Amino acid sequence: MQGQIRISADLGALSAAAAKRWVVLAAEAITARSEFHVALSGGATPKRLYERLAAAPFVREIDWSCVHIYFTDERCVLPDHPDSNFHMASEALLRHVLIPPGQIHRIGVSLATIRQDAAAYAELLRKHLRKSKEGVPQFDLVLLGLGPDGHVASLFPAAGIAVTEREDRYAVAVYADRLKAWRISLSLPVIAHARHILMLAAGEEKAGIVRRALGAPESPPLPVQRLQPVHEMEWYLDQAAAAQLRDRVIG
Ligand code: 6PG
Repeated sequence: MQGQIRISADLGALSAAAAKRWVVLAAEAITARSEFHVALSGGATPKRLYERLAAAPFVREIDWSCVHIYFTDERCVLPDHPDSNFHMASEALLRHVLIPPGQIHRIGVSLATIRQDAAAYAELLRKHLRKSKEGVPQFDLVLLGLGPDGHVASLFPAAGIAVTEREDRYAVAVYADRLKAWRISLSLPVIAHARHILMLAAGEEKAGIVRRALGAPESPPLPVQRLQPVHEMEWYLDQAAAAQLRDRVIG
């Protein structure tokens, strides 16, 4: 697992650097295809980026009418529940910008129908996203946070992770052992085929997992190590999360 690594002084600077990158990638996609399809992760680190995007100067630098929002994963809760990734993104960003409602694609999840919900989300991805040359629905950008166990989206270290690697599966229902909870998550191939992936990690508590994620493949591989980006993944770290990396270059 490698990719471009940008190290900022702190979470605030990391969020600003990632927001600048979003502005560039959105402009490129909108110029080329008149649309920008992006999948948002949950978590405190991505949340700070969403808050930056909703404020000046970045909020004025993006044509929100061309932005199409999806989610990398969702919990089995109602959309107004505090644990909902949709709720978090709505409070941090979506309520503050003018994205046409039909361009915000929430993952509907209920425990009773979670497999059908995953299939419905996969169908939505097939319908709305262009395909990579391998035929996989392709986001312009996927935003990821890095969990303390190396999970991305809701792909946790678990026995059933193999199903999330199948090229023909775009969204999966997964049981997170550690959390004793079901989730819906993008599959690894859909994340891997994105034109761009930004990985955000901050804080000293992430230094160890960042070193491991960027180090030699483990056995079994960390979920983030199972991700084989077709294009380059860009890491946005703060100094604390990068503290255990050798040859640190302050970006
Ligand atoms: C979720 C996220 C998850 C998150 C990481 C990092 O639903 O919780 O999709 O993958 O991005 O756990 O979260 P933090 O930035 O809060 O550590």
